[in-house]
Amino acid sequence: MSRKILVTSALPYANGPIHLGHLVEYIQTDVWVRFQKLQGNEIYYFCADDTHGTPVMIAARKAGITPEQLVNEMRKEHFADLTSFQVAFDNYYSTNTPENRAFSEEIYLKAKEKGHIHKKTLNQLYCEKDEMFLPDRFVRGTCPKCGAGDQYGDSCEVCGSTYRPEDLIDSRCAICGTPPVTRESEHVFFQLADFQDFLVDWLKTANRVDEGIRKKMHEWIDQGLRHWDISRDGPYFGFAIPGEKDKFFYVWLDAPIGYMASAQHFFRKSGKDELFDEFWRSEENEVYHFIGKDIVYFHTLFWPALLNAGGFRTPTSVFVHGFLTVNGEKMSKSRGTFVRASTYLKHMDPECLRYFYATRLGPGLDDLDLNTEDFVHRYNSDVVGNIANLFSRLVSGIASKLDLRLADSLSADGKELFELTAKAKSTIAEMYENRQYARAMREIQSLSDGVNRFITEREPWKQIKTDTEAARSTVTDALNAGMLLALYLKPVLPVLATGVEELLGLEAPLRFDAELNPLPPAHTIRPYRHLAGRIEAKSFDAVFAEEKEFVEKSKKEEAKESESGASKSKKAKSSGAEKKMNKNETAQESSDEGIISIEDLEKVELRVGRIEKAELIEGADRLLQVSLEVGEERPRNVIAGIRGAYQPEELLGLHVVCVANLKPRKMKFGLSEAMLLATGKGDSLTLFVPHRAASPGDRLG
Ligand code: MSP
Ligand code: ZN
Repeated sequence: MSRKILVTSALPYANGPIHLGHLVEYIQTDVWVRFQKLQGNEIYYFCADDTHGTPVMIAARKAGITPEQLVNEMRKEHFADLTSFQVAFDNYYSTNTPENRAFSEEIYLKAKEKGHIHKKTLNQLYCEKDEMFLPDRFVRGTCPKCGAGDQYGDSCEVCGSTYRPEDLIDSRCAICGTPPVTRESEHVFFQLADFQDFLVDWLKTANRVDEGIRKKMHEWIDQGLRHWDISRDGPYFGFAIPGEKDKFFYVWLDAPIGYMASAQHFFRKSGKDELFDEFWRSEENEVYHFIGKDIVYFHTLFWPALLNAGGFRTPTSVFVHGFLTVNGEKMSKSRGTFVRASTYLKHMDPECLRYFYATRLGPGLDDLDLNTEDFVHRYNSDVVGNIANLFSRLVSGIASKLDLRLADSLSADGKELFELTAKAKSTIAEMYENRQYARAMREIQSLSDGVNRFITEREPWKQIKTDTEAARSTVTDALNAGMLLALYLKPVLPVLATGVEELLGLEAPLRFDAELNPLPPAHTIRPYRHLAGRIEAKSFDAVFAEEKEFVEKSKKEEAKESESGASKSKKAKSSGAEKKMNKNETAQESSDEGIISIEDLEKVELRVGRIEKAELIEGADRLLQVSLEVGEERPRNVIAGIRGAYQPEELLGLHVVCVANLKPRKMKFGLSEAMLLATGKGDSLTLFVPHRAASPGDRLG
């Protein structure tokens, strides 16, 4: 019977970019979700950006935009990054939405009604210049324990001690540099201790959390659960607390409620309203949260308690993973190992990272290390050398000489190989179910070794010279087993698996819940297409170098900014969004930051051109000589490096886009008077063409 499952990943903060650490979680979750879909379960994967809090408010203020603008930009960016890694959400929403406000109010008011809320006056540091209370991270000063200067208000990075912000020596506001004063303010508290029995009970159900976490939680509970401060004074980017003046819900109050908001938004827009209650108001279905080990307290104590207070169900389980290190060390900005998803994507294939994480992930909380050598070696040897190679040597080397037609049936040995490989399905499925991805990957590799051995023993490359039918039989046997490997890898490597499905000309995509049958008799497959290519360690060098450069550049910008007096202290926890916005801000003055102004853009004259003539150039195997009509007296002569991708004949009459005011370039083969716009290289280069009718000489813009 198919299960109904709702899954979430933690909501990334809107004050920074997605990095490789985040991706541990999103890839881990996505693999599980894909697996469940292939099992035929009805599963929904929800996430959102976590938008509220002081850092976003300050970053937006600095950038001269509203917090809403900032979080909208970030959300788009996060979503694009995550989906580039094939993370397939059913909905990626935001916590700054009407649904989230409504649920936050509902839960709060129910908790209040039941007597779980009280208020208390606190002393807190306040900046009179910025007219706001300062969160711990927005106070800087000298550590009271070791005397190290310029430390955060909650802990010292030098001696590691923790303290209250009031204890800092020479404290000052991290935003403006003014010394803060102490002010009284009333805060709203959620009485977590009221839920002690409930939480102990919640933990009694098997598999709520990993054993280690369960112990930790009991420790916390035994120490006594403290009241939780859920309010922040304005100005604060967040939801106003009903019935209070100028008080807002602390970001962590509404963040997990964002899971529900994302679900409701999705179910409503897809006409499945009833599913919301089925998942959140009843225990009949399964709800799982994937999170990192740093946010366990929030998800296993506050969150179940809040849900209970609000009259909602609690999660079936919370799955916790460890932290990513790079080459054995904590991710570091200055070493360039704090790698943003977008930087990785410029240099490497997302599936390499998916595979590597899968080989490192289990159900526990162990940290995982991205060792770059291992990474390159694992991918090249497992995915390229073992899996993709199996298909390439069978199809491009042999099947291509057999009209791509397979035999009528499997041989006796082939049947045995197929059955052996098929038998592993239930084991592998169980491993995926239990999040033992590393074990699953090892199992798949060992099956693949078996298939490759089968090929090597039969030497079809020799068979084809003497006995074509024997070769056909070997190819048939091995490809059928190979097809199963593609299924087993599909949750981790969806693109590669789809490539195999296409190559094998499958009628229906591979699934875990389908019966595993060999390909039909005398089946015709497709010509070989590249499935996966080797990677090199130097790609990582390029990634780290780019990150280092980025950090240095941002530092310089910050220094420049504080020199110019834009801000006296730049020590507020800076964020990606903030940096990005700062960039835009300075763009008006200088164009050397990679950002150009509209005036700069107008300098480039883009025009539509029609290709009147295209010819090969003797002695130049990458170039074509093109005569381009751009609405002038005579066509322009263009020498373009497009021969790898285009035959002269196919270009005649084609409308293209060119840069018309580029200084003419004298080349060995003549003068080039314009540049054609294209993307890609070699045979995968493609020219840009106008989508609808356009005439030579038309200007773009
Ligand atoms: N906004 C909160 C979560 C709210 S959930 C209701 C948050 N955001 S985060 O952007 O800091 O982290 C998002 C997720 O990524 C968390 O589960 C966190 O543990 C995980 N990771 C962030 N850095 C990580 C590593 N270096 N390694 C592994 N996971 C990491 O926390
Ligand atoms: Zn200030």
